[in-house]
Amino acid sequence: MIDGTVNIPIGAEKVYLFDSTLRDGEQTPGARLNYDEKVEVARQLARLGVDIIEAGFPVSSPGEMKAVQAIARQIKGPAICGLARAVKGDIDAAWEAIKEAEQPRLHVFLGASDIHMRHKFNMEPAQVLEQGVEAVKYASCFTDDIEYSPEDATRANEEYLYELLEAVIKAGARVINIPDTVGYAVPEEFGALIGRLRENVSGMDKTIISVHCHNDLGLAVANSLEAIKNGARQIECNINGIGERAGNASLEEIAVALRIRQNYFSYYTDLNFSEIYRTSRLVSKLTSISVPVNKAVVGLNAFSHSSGIHQDGVLKNKETYEIIDAELIGGSAAQMCLTARSGRHAVHDQLIKLGFTLNKEQLDIIYEHFVSLADKKKEVHPEDLEALVLDHLSAAEPRYKLDYLQTVSGSKSVPAAVIRLRKEDDSTIEEVAVGTGPIDAAYNAINKITGLNIGLEKYSINAVTHGRDALGEVQVYMSYQDRTITGRGTSTDIIEASVKAYLNGLNKLLRINGNG
Ligand code: KIV
Ligand code: ZN
Repeated sequence: MIDGTVNIPIGAEKVYLFDSTLRDGEQTPGARLNYDEKVEVARQLARLGVDIIEAGFPVSSPGEMKAVQAIARQIKGPAICGLARAVKGDIDAAWEAIKEAEQPRLHVFLGASDIHMRHKFNMEPAQVLEQGVEAVKYASCFTDDIEYSPEDATRANEEYLYELLEAVIKAGARVINIPDTVGYAVPEEFGALIGRLRENVSGMDKTIISVHCHNDLGLAVANSLEAIKNGARQIECNINGIGERAGNASLEEIAVALRIRQNYFSYYTDLNFSEIYRTSRLVSKLTSISVPVNKAVVGLNAFSHSSGIHQDGVLKNKETYEIIDAELIGGSAAQMCLTARSGRHAVHDQLIKLGFTLNKEQLDIIYEHFVSLADKKKEVHPEDLEALVLDHLSAAEPRYKLDYLQTVSGSKSVPAAVIRLRKEDDSTIEEVAVGTGPIDAAYNAINKITGLNIGLEKYSINAVTHGRDALGEVQVYMSYQDRTITGRGTSTDIIEASVKAYLNGLNKLLRINGNG
């Protein structure tokens, strides 16, 4: 099936999609989202139609708790899940964060492999089993919807796993998740493990079996699909496959594989496929983690053909070299451009088409930014408008805001920058610095203001649309002590975009360090 037609075969079973972009995905080095960004991603995940959103790890910081709470209150449709280690404090925090959701789920995890038990906890397997059981019993005081994960299951002793899972099921776990925490498994072996767990763990037939695959060997999607064939009915996965180290299984790849190869896998998901492209873009922009051009399903090249033979074939009939229609994932929706003459109504309308739900105050701000952009650019493309909204979300609650910027550069002058930043208490600080170029000088001036010796690991700039008046989008990868953080900023002036990206990263860093 090449187009978007859904033909669910009679007897096909549903596979639940558990999205962990906001939890395991946010553990990608540098990928920190603020409160507004997290809520926006959750809103889009609901629109995408995932079944469960793992919104975060509430005990980790007050900021995380606040964001998960907001998601639980505002996002309707999917179940909202909070992660907790198998200890009371974590479970209390997770429940506090998710209790107002339509369908709250507690996800409790504890290491199960000898390596984890010995080196992380210095505990005997029997003690770990007891702790897991106690945690599930405690969680069941709050809800019936409890998921249990024996972390590093694929390197655990299998007989021990049987015993542990039987015990946590008896204690009240309704979903048993088998994590391949370090991406060690290979498909046939992993599928067989899921099959044996189904057969040998008493009570497993009353649970939903879930899998959570990491991509260290590039096998996360293949392992997840093999697990489905062997009885898994919930897949934990992330948009664009982001996550710890090499990432997690990519949600869009799994869903599209099940859909395109329905003749092989007789399963379906409830995903709104036409929201895939927008979700991928949103997550990539807000986390500043770009999607590789050759990434399956959502990469820039996934639907382009360069060889003459392929182009010729596709022109004659798309099916010659294309198994997925870009329209299936919402990749080709044409939208109109706005100009300086477009009014609030047209801007609002376009924002709705782009999938943003803004309140009046946000709309006023975006409209103001739109007017000033439309003064500089002949046409404001949907991508420009999207960039304005994302900039607004990313700039929420900043510790430092750009108040004034001036740079000097030229073939015969020493590059220099004057920067004035406004702090939360409305006071301002100004500094002057020189550098190897105007951007370096501006970054040096910011470091002087904050007194932090922040390093710049990576810098990239792209045009949001085409033409000389295009918005420039800068992404930076910054380091401070043992932390890395990403930042992004846009402007028609690339030096201003660079400074905005640096400030975006800086504000995230300060929030993390200040635990907020
Ligand atoms: O990779 C892992 O084991 C996890 C668990 C918390 C499920 O992320
Ligand atoms: Zn994980």
